[in-house]
Amino acid sequence: MSLRIAALVSGSGSNLQAILDACAQGRIDGEVVLVLSNRTDAFALERARRAGVPTEVLDHKNFASREAFDSEIVDRLRTVRADTVVLAGFMRIVTPVLLSAFTDRVINVHPSLLPSFAGTHAQAQALAYGAKIAGCTVHFVDEGVDSGPIIAQAAVDVFDTDTEESLRDRILREEHRILPLALSWLAEGRLLREGRLVRVSKSKPK
Ligand code: GRF
Repeated sequence: MSLRIAALVSGSGSNLQAILDACAQGRIDGEVVLVLSNRTDAFALERARRAGVPTEVLDHKNFASREAFDSEIVDRLRTVRADTVVLAGFMRIVTPVLLSAFTDRVINVHPSLLPSFAGTHAQAQALAYGAKIAGCTVHFVDEGVDSGPIIAQAAVDVFDTDTEESLRDRILREEHRILPLALSWLAEGRLLREGRLVRVSKSKPK
């Protein structure tokens, strides 16, 4: 099934760029139909415009609750008939209002090997803990923070000389690889979810 992807963003949008490129190159069977940001200054919006993708800005501060914010997001996503939601550096916690509207269709990328180092500043957490291996995780979003079923992970070395920035960049390169890969599997119907386990079938279903 060709995906109609909505990307929720707050920042630079390098993961969005990886998705846009993968769609353009046919590595993902799908298209990005909307990029929605909670910040007007997110560079991700510029990336969307350059790719000719519609954008929306909804400032969460204008809403009385997380649920009210998510309800407006759901309306916007339905308007463009999105069927898949990617949290691509979206710095807001989503609620059941969004999750129940897109059951098993909300995907996040997180810069750690979950369940280690959930939450913000994951790279700094890994460095402070003295981890020797770090990485990233693509997962279905559930009601917890970075706790949903894992679709894909990639590991990178941590070096004694690493700063938060150098580690972030090494992890990001892997994010840009496994997020489009996970979306390609979703488009091909290859993700089989059994409770919190996600199996990736070798071939596309007939
Ligand atoms: C990434 O590290 C992602 O894992 C985290 O936020 C960062 C977003 O980076 N959720 P970008 O906006 O995609 O460049």
